[in-house]
Formats: sequence, structure tokens, C-alpha cells
Amino acid sequence: MDLICLCKGVEKDVIVKAVKEGADTFEKVQEATGAGTGFCNAGRCRKKIEALIEENK
Ligand code: FES
Repeated sequence: MDLICLCKGVEKDVIVKAVKEGADTFEKVQEATGAGTGFCNAGRCRKKIEALIEENK
């Protein structure tokens, strides 16, 4: 298992699936998965999430 968002415990697979289902922006991934909505205010995960969007959209 590959945790992308530590605050919310969201795994890579969950984010990739959301992107493939149409979450093609950081905000949409936040909405769909909760990733990027934790106490660090996405400071730890935003870049990783954006890279996954680019790779999988
Ligand atoms: S690691 Fe994702 S919001 Fe903190």
C-alpha cells in the first residue's frame, strides 16, 4: 500500500481510480477522496496528487 495523503490516510490506488473516473483537478480529487483536506492543508501531498492527476487523467 502506497499512502499519498498521510493526514487522511488516502492510498495511491484510491486517487488513481478517482482521476480515471473524472477527477482531473486537485479540487476534484479532494472532493472525491478527501485527500488533500487534512491538517497539513495539503502541504505534504499536493504535489504528489497533482503528479498522479497528470499521469492518469
Ligand atoms: S498529507 Fe494530505 S492533507 Fe496532509
